[in-house]
Amino acid sequence: MTKKQILITGGAGFIGSNLAATFIKKHGRDIVIVDDFSSGDWKNLIHVDCEVRAADCDDAALLQEIAGGRYEAVYHEAAITDTTVMNQRLMIEVNTNAFAKILEAAHQSETRVIYASSAGTYGNSAAPNAIGVGEDPENIYGFSKLLMDRIASRWYGKHSAPIIGLRYFNVYGCGEHHKNERDGTKTASMILQWYEKAKAGKPLRLFKYGEQMRDFVYIQDVVDANITALTSTQSGVCNVGSGQARAYNDIVDCLGKSLNQNFTPEYFDNPFPFFQMHTEADLSETSRILNWQPQWSLEAGIEDYIQQLETGFRGPQVSV
Ligand SMILES: NC(=O)c1ccc[n+]([C@@H]2O[C@H](COP(=O)([O-])OP(=O)(O)OC[C@H]3O[C@@H](n4cnc5c(N)ncnc54)[C@H](O)[C@@H]3O)[C@@H](O)[C@H]2O)c1
Repeated sequence: MTKKQILITGGAGFIGSNLAATFIKKHGRDIVIVDDFSSGDWKNLIHVDCEVRAADCDDAALLQEIAGGRYEAVYHEAAITDTTVMNQRLMIEVNTNAFAKILEAAHQSETRVIYASSAGTYGNSAAPNAIGVGEDPENIYGFSKLLMDRIASRWYGKHSAPIIGLRYFNVYGCGEHHKNERDGTKTASMILQWYEKAKAGKPLRLFKYGEQMRDFVYIQDVVDANITALTSTQSGVCNVGSGQARAYNDIVDCLGKSLNQNFTPEYFDNPFPFFQMHTEADLSETSRILNWQPQWSLEAGIEDYIQQLETGFRGPQVSV
């Protein structure tokens, strides 16, 4: 029997394009990408040989295909990913309502759904962040993702195929250049933003005093967790992080080591009242549901990423 196709919504984006590249080049899978190109970039797909469609992720024809059982699994990565967007209705329509429609369609064919949630669901609750604890988002983006997790959980008992939410923490790696090239806000990881500043001979500017802690997770780990979710037998929400909180100052140190330079950061006041001060993924549910562990430390991930950037490679990368 021929294997069914795998659908990736938001596949022109950072995580979706890395997932597609790995599925195609490493696993020989037949991928369909649907993206509205609102924030993603065609350049991510130049070397990703698959069907690419420009459409909304809740396009009626697409929902019919899902309901009709065309796909082995739906990977839902499409979303408004700029966390500074404040339009509440728009955020819920694009992130939450569209996902609810995908779940309804998937239910008709009992199709597996693996979707992108976010550490934004935890807001500024005390770390380590565990599923079901301190889910108190600080912005409409985090709330839209929390709603997705709640909607998904209502299907668990009724839907025979697994529905798996992956709460990504701060993801960095090849394939995120477009997030620095859009008009207005730059939303690529600080690793890429500061790399570009360093290469331009500009100072690395950090919110005072660079001590805020985040769980930074390398794209290769994120892709690996997604691929593991294709065979997991249970539904649930899982954190996808490195399991370690690190300070923004640590990134500057890692960049300095990888580029063989000494950086003296410039500190300035943080303008964002909703900024998360400390995130750290508790991975116990991830172990239980996915039996998955991250492989990349911040040091190793940044070193690998910088090596790619220094060759001019933009990604996406095939996860090893
Ligand atoms: N990158 C991170 O650190 C991070 C952290 C937590 C969660 N996430 C989540 O992971 C997913 C992927 O994020 P990313 O970093 O790749 O962002 P991205 O902006 O690079 O990718 C999102 C993609 O979705 C597409 N899209 C947006 N709205 C759409 C719609 N209505 N229909 C079809 N396509 C649409 C965009 O054009 C883009 O290609 C998102 O759901 C995001 O919220 C990312």
